Amino acid sequence: MNMARESWASKLGFMLAAMGSAVGLGNIWRFSYVAGENGGGAFLILYLISVLVIGIPLLLVEVSIGRKAQSDVVGSYEKLAPGKPWYLAGFFGIGASLLILGFYSVVAGWSFYYFWNYLNGFFFNEPQEGYGPAFESFTTTLTQPLIWHGLFMVVTILIVLSGVKKGIELANKIFMPLLAILLIILAGFSLSLDGAAEGMRFLFQPDWSVLSDPTVYISALGQAFFSLSLGVGAMMTYGSYLSSSHKLPGATFGIGIMDTLFAIISGVVIFPAVFAFSIEPDSGPVLVFITLPSIFNQMPFGGYVGILFFLSLSLAAISSSVSLLEVPVSYLMRAASWTRRKAAMVSGLIIFILGIGASLGMGVLAGVTPIGENNIMDSMDYIASNIFLPLGGMTMALFVGWHFTKRTALEAADLSGTGLGSVWYGLVRYIAPILIVIIFLQALGLF
Ligand code: TRP
Repeated sequence: MNMARESWASKLGFMLAAMGSAVGLGNIWRFSYVAGENGGGAFLILYLISVLVIGIPLLLVEVSIGRKAQSDVVGSYEKLAPGKPWYLAGFFGIGASLLILGFYSVVAGWSFYYFWNYLNGFFFNEPQEGYGPAFESFTTTLTQPLIWHGLFMVVTILIVLSGVKKGIELANKIFMPLLAILLIILAGFSLSLDGAAEGMRFLFQPDWSVLSDPTVYISALGQAFFSLSLGVGAMMTYGSYLSSSHKLPGATFGIGIMDTLFAIISGVVIFPAVFAFSIEPDSGPVLVFITLPSIFNQMPFGGYVGILFFLSLSLAAISSSVSLLEVPVSYLMRAASWTRRKAAMVSGLIIFILGIGASLGMGVLAGVTPIGENNIMDSMDYIASNIFLPLGGMTMALFVGWHFTKRTALEAADLSGTGLGSVWYGLVRYIAPILIVIIFLQALGLF
């Protein structure tokens, strides 16, 4: 049985959903902790270069493959390269999306918990022990974080289950602008704090000595992929719900720039506060959950800002998690002929189970460090973001750059007969794959 494939109501619907996917915890939570761990300014420059030279061109690659094939991540490769092994990259993408959503959902659960605590006024004033220890005692308990993680997955499943159009489009229309406005207000306030100058120097004044650390390059690349939702087929799947009457280059450029602005502004919010409240910039994934409440605590009406902020952040997380869950769901609906309902529930359950490890790794399983000194969550993040995403993106670039003819590639991306087309094609066919390989070799210490 072949029902008509779903599609976006309009190009705006696609733009909003894709921006909703891109803008999420990655821009605020992940960007600030990764920038903090990698020394700030020099990292920011590498990140911006990664976005412009690799990220945005590959975003166009990914969306254009999906739109041309009108299928999920495995099906797109199968359709455009029948009988060839490219489709294996699709399964790789499905695995990566499950892994990412596994820990993403745990962190989003923390955001829910913060929203709840602001809503009830519990966080309006600093708890006696301080925000840092209060956060730690929450995340190290066994069941509490799991309940919030489960709740977040239930919400994600419910939205995906009911089809993407209504819920996601509407939520994005209201809460993305709200999040942007709140971030700008917060940035203004942060800049008035005592540590502002030091924070701005940390973020914008490159300390080039960090470039001798081989992991900073792969971290910048991984962050660019993560933030732009690249490499697992999420954007491919979203592109597949788009018809060919809409032009892609402007849309993908807009999505990329918007996403990057959100990251930079949240850096302007976080780093002044990091220095004002004497928090270590390399505190890791817990960073924003300690700095933000400290900011709200000092602001007039800060408690109410906290409510709105964590509500917006939670919704931004949902619009991203939905795009991750849609990857296995659209595959299962086609390949296994499952209903949307069954596909969403089964994939969601698997993700919930994967997330249990990430959550317990903050507490009882803190001693389990699969990669170097990283706990379970950081290890899942590291493998997925710094290895799977760039590899997935590189495969897409090679597919369009070498499997397609130049003409097909340009047509698929709506760039036929433009000068920009040749630049993009050169980036996709040569520059991006070569850079990704170099960064990999370098992270392995081979370069
Ligand atoms: N980009 C989202 C964020 O910044 C997370 C995300 C959604 C994602 N879909 C993705 C990351 C696909 C990698 C791949 O929060």
